[in-house]
Amino acid sequence: MSFRPMLVAAALVLAAGLSAPTSLAREAASSAGQRPDGAAIASANAQATDAGMEVLRKGGNAFDAAVAVSAALGLVEPESSGIGGGGFFLLRRASDGKVVFVDGRERAPLAATRDMFLDPATGEPRPRQTIDGPLAAAIPGLPAALVHVSKTYGRLPLAESLAPTIALAENGWTFGDKNLAMMGWREAALAADPGAAPLLLVDGKTPALGTRMRNPDYAEVLKRLGRDGFDGFYRGDIATRLVDGVRAAGGLWTLDDLAQYRVVEREPLVFQHRGKTVITAPPPSSGGIALAQTLQILDGYDWSKRSELDRLHLRIEAMRRAYRDRAVFLGDPDFVDVPVELLTNPAYAAGLRAGIHPEKATPSALLPGVTALERPDTTHFSIVDADGNIASVTQTVNLPYGNAMVIPGTGFLLNNEMDDFSVKAGVPNAFGLVGDDANAIAPGKRPLSSMTPTIVVGDDQIAVLGTPGGSRIISMVIQGVLALDAGASALEAAAEPRVHHQYLPDEVSIEKDALSPELRAGLEARGHVIKEEPRTWGNMQVVTWDLTDGDVDAGADPRWKTVGKGSTQDGGIFR
Ligand code: GLY
Repeated sequence: MSFRPMLVAAALVLAAGLSAPTSLAREAASSAGQRPDGAAIASANAQATDAGMEVLRKGGNAFDAAVAVSAALGLVEPESSGIGGGGFFLLRRASDGKVVFVDGRERAPLAATRDMFLDPATGEPRPRQTIDGPLAAAIPGLPAALVHVSKTYGRLPLAESLAPTIALAENGWTFGDKNLAMMGWREAALAADPGAAPLLLVDGKTPALGTRMRNPDYAEVLKRLGRDGFDGFYRGDIATRLVDGVRAAGGLWTLDDLAQYRVVEREPLVFQHRGKTVITAPPPSSGGIALAQTLQILDGYDWSKRSELDRLHLRIEAMRRAYRDRAVFLGDPDFVDVPVELLTNPAYAAGLRAGIHPEKATPSALLPGVTALERPDTTHFSIVDADGNIASVTQTVNLPYGNAMVIPGTGFLLNNEMDDFSVKAGVPNAFGLVGDDANAIAPGKRPLSSMTPTIVVGDDQIAVLGTPGGSRIISMVIQGVLALDAGASALEAAAEPRVHHQYLPDEVSIEKDALSPELRAGLEARGHVIKEEPRTWGNMQVVTWDLTDGDVDAGADPRWKTVGKGSTQDGGIFR
């Protein structure tokens, strides 16, 4: 099967007048005006869920609560996200059904260059420079997103939404299971940084479970943000401290980088799936496009009549094709022309479907493209308030504990999002094929993300979901949507045993015992290589709102059951 001719064929179908998916955005408004019986929040950390609930109790809406949960996660889950990183806020306003994607993704510094991580002598990437230390950090976007979401969509002043986190930072938060598990990977890098070590370690070592952690510097930065808004972080003392600290360590940041940072409001990606409207992340996330492609490929099959083995086989084959396109076409839409309407058109999905053998795995080597690597951390939270406002938010500092660097006096880690760029763009891969040029480094550009905050609007239910997990985010959200289709509760959807294929490596990665011996043997007989992982992945947070009776439900991924928290409050007392 040849890839380019298929694109051309789909383009012709588009030109012939089939509907473009973006026009579906208006349909997302269909259940606007309905109200649930209460509010629900699911997040990866109970202290953050509680901060969001506190803000709802004070009269805040879902968007104020999103600001509260986001800021709190940055404190209590520093391995996953924070104001030194970025995030995507997918919002749906109840009053008019408006859906918007607030892109607070980090940007490359203005002095960044395409080959900045390559050794000029060898032309190869220098080891670890995109992972640890000052060059790895892109310009943070999350503080600007918090200001923007609060000001544009919130009901409370920003300072009030930040207050629970400020109190937590001053009075102390509790070091938990997940903080501990993720620190195993990063203890040495954190210990080597003069800002990170005193903030996050005890005597240079990982703190014991249950240690009370204080962070007055973070409280001070949040107070400035609450008081002065954008300028409180991106101009003035804090900006100067950040730039001086990064440059002293050998980085490229300038005051202009911070002053010029802007969030971008983008139109969410919207498509139809089994009679539901799926609202999800557009570029610079790759997630929404891959979600749309996979689900639209699967929608062409008579799903209920297929065996469990057939469904798994088809899901794997659909993911294989969507992940291949992710690597080839996607990048920051402000810099490269991403063919979104083409890639998400049902006619294009039909072309991909036609190439799937019903009973045989297609070797990925026959589908030219480039590899996409897994990135293990990030965090997601989902919120519905009692007015029906919705926030689906995924945020990140990239790898666990970001670049392991804290500028002294600031209280937060910087990200290592530069690693989400293709550091060797345009170079043909091992198969001699075109590399992911669309995601090459450029000054001010946003690196391609897999974060896929999603809202699914059906006649009977609205579901809000997302997860961390790097490239695995997309396959997990696909599984979450399919599980909800099949009637799973919020918790069951989050708990779903995970099965992943990302085109390359050409293997089906499964959690332990995710497949019965029969299913596994069946897939192997069809040519799939199964790799059972010794670990779990993801941390899915799901909220559902039953439109028939108003019930809300929250499911926090049970893989971290002592850490995350789904919380609901009914009776509408948060209105
Ligand atoms: N840094 C993880 C992602 O954005 O996909």
